[in-house]
Amino acid sequence: MIKAVIFDLDGVIVTTDEFHYQGWQKLANEEGIFFNRTINERLRGVSRFESLEIILEKATRTYSHEEKAEMAERKNNYYRALLHTLTPADILPGVLKLLTGLRNAGIKVAVGSSSRNTPFILEKIGLSRSFDTVSDGNQIKKSKPDPEVFLLAAAKMQVPADQCLVVEDADAGVEAANRAGMKCLAVGSARSNPLANMNANSLNEVSVDQLLNL
Ligand code: BG6
Ligand code: MG
Repeated sequence: MIKAVIFDLDGVIVTTDEFHYQGWQKLANEEGIFFNRTINERLRGVSRFESLEIILEKATRTYSHEEKAEMAERKNNYYRALLHTLTPADILPGVLKLLTGLRNAGIKVAVGSSSRNTPFILEKIGLSRSFDTVSDGNQIKKSKPDPEVFLLAAAKMQVPADQCLVVEDADAGVEAANRAGMKCLAVGSARSNPLANMNANSLNEVSVDQLLNL
């Protein structure tokens, strides 16, 4: 029986996955590095530095650690400028209905995200106080597909892993949920992932009853 649901943030709760893409594309253009939406799919759920390493696979020269640090910061500045435009209207369809339904059913809800910008994003979309706990990129050493971020959320809620359900839009996140021993609903970009217990295009198509019976 599911006792807690852990939501990924970027691409599950809010449309910030598109902002990540725009920030990386601007940086890649400036550096003359080939980058497109297909490569961008590999960045979902992955930390900022690991994302940069994936982008640099297409670079024609090597970069020093200092240059990489500057590039990651530059991308984050582009990304943060876009985050300033966020409002509650950017919450993805179906999220608020599910959060209310889960809370009414006595189910704990958490955020489990690799992003260090998680607190800022939750504040911008008005959900800072809507979760029992938040586990994010500021609190972990290894990002998805490592299960650390989800195991931390479960520990903070004091719910055993096998009673947690993860909601993810990243293949890396679905793998992390599997490795944590948690159930998983895959949506958006991960909607065809065969490792998930349930797949949907959008949370709008999912009911609380479906989730609790997974
Ligand atoms: C994840 C995103 O949620 O956070 C990744 O899916 C991103 O694309 C990662 O790289 C780290 O985000 P941030 O905000 O710390 O740069
Ligand atoms: Mg995501």
